[in-house]
Amino acid sequence: MRLEHKTAVITGGASGIGLAAAHRFAAEGAAVVIGDVNADRAVAAAAEITEAGGTAVGTAVNVMDEESIASLIGRAVDEFGSLHVLCNHVGGSNPRKDLDLLRMDLDEFDKTMALNVRSTVLGARLALPHMIAAGGGSIINTASVAGLSGDYLQSAYGTAKAAVIRLTQYIATQYGPRNVRCNAVAPGAISSPALLDNLSSAEIDAIVAHNALPFLGEPDDIANTMLFLASDESRYLTGQLLTVDGGMSSHSSIAEDRRGFLPA
Ligand SMILES: NC(=O)c1ccc[n+]([C@@H]2O[C@H](COP(=O)([O-])OP(=O)(O)OC[C@H]3O[C@@H](n4cnc5c(N)ncnc54)[C@H](O)[C@@H]3O)[C@@H](O)[C@H]2O)c1
Repeated sequence: MRLEHKTAVITGGASGIGLAAAHRFAAEGAAVVIGDVNADRAVAAAAEITEAGGTAVGTAVNVMDEESIASLIGRAVDEFGSLHVLCNHVGGSNPRKDLDLLRMDLDEFDKTMALNVRSTVLGARLALPHMIAAGGGSIINTASVAGLSGDYLQSAYGTAKAAVIRLTQYIATQYGPRNVRCNAVAPGAISSPALLDNLSSAEIDAIVAHNALPFLGEPDDIANTMLFLASDESRYLTGQLLTVDGGMSSHSSIAEDRRGFLPA
């Protein structure tokens, strides 16, 4: 039981990676509070965990709204007495509006920064006092490989995720002395609804072709990393980015072309 006696809040925990993390955390003994804009799915996910013998509640949250995040954190503390782990997991952008710089919708840029970055700032600000009161905690921010380098599209998303990575270091630096750790996970391509609903299978194949490993990641691949970051096994690890991408970012962009120049 790697998370025994810990309370964890997961935003966006009703689907995909967040849902997988909710199940993994509960299976390891955590009391899990699943917050999601889709309240019905959050409640259903919590019921499933409870049926399996775990402890969970599901509730509505909109991470675009500070009061809504405050009531999510408040619910966790009221119900379970304290807060030790926060996964700031919600993020994304609208791929039809988040294009190259000249064609990017500026309202979409602002919305994307709010959904990915402001929400992470708010989550941390609201959780920190409770974690400090509990003697420490672990904040886990969901970034993306999109935040590591440039691309032809999703300019707002990549910029926002880069900010999440840097913000992680600021939180780690400022609250490490109070025993609060903060790390980020950068998923590569993961078979969650966010990916499967927005990209064609040809586009997914094109992405996976650049992995070092020959397959598409699954939500559990990220959930297991989050579990490690939530648990005391990572007690000496803070301010770091763990990139879980099947090796997509392990090689330079010219590596594939250079294969043609290998000596016989
Ligand atoms: N799937 C991937 O390949 C991939 C890759 C890199 C990063 N990510 C990151 O993972 C996160 C998304 O996780 P996923 O892939 O499992 O997606 P998902 O679509 O399966 O789940 C996202 C959840 O967030 C909820 N949500 C959306 N907006 C919300 C809001 N304003 N407030 C509260 N909840 C909200 C949705 O209802 C949904 O349940 C994002 O931060 C995304 O940038 C995903």
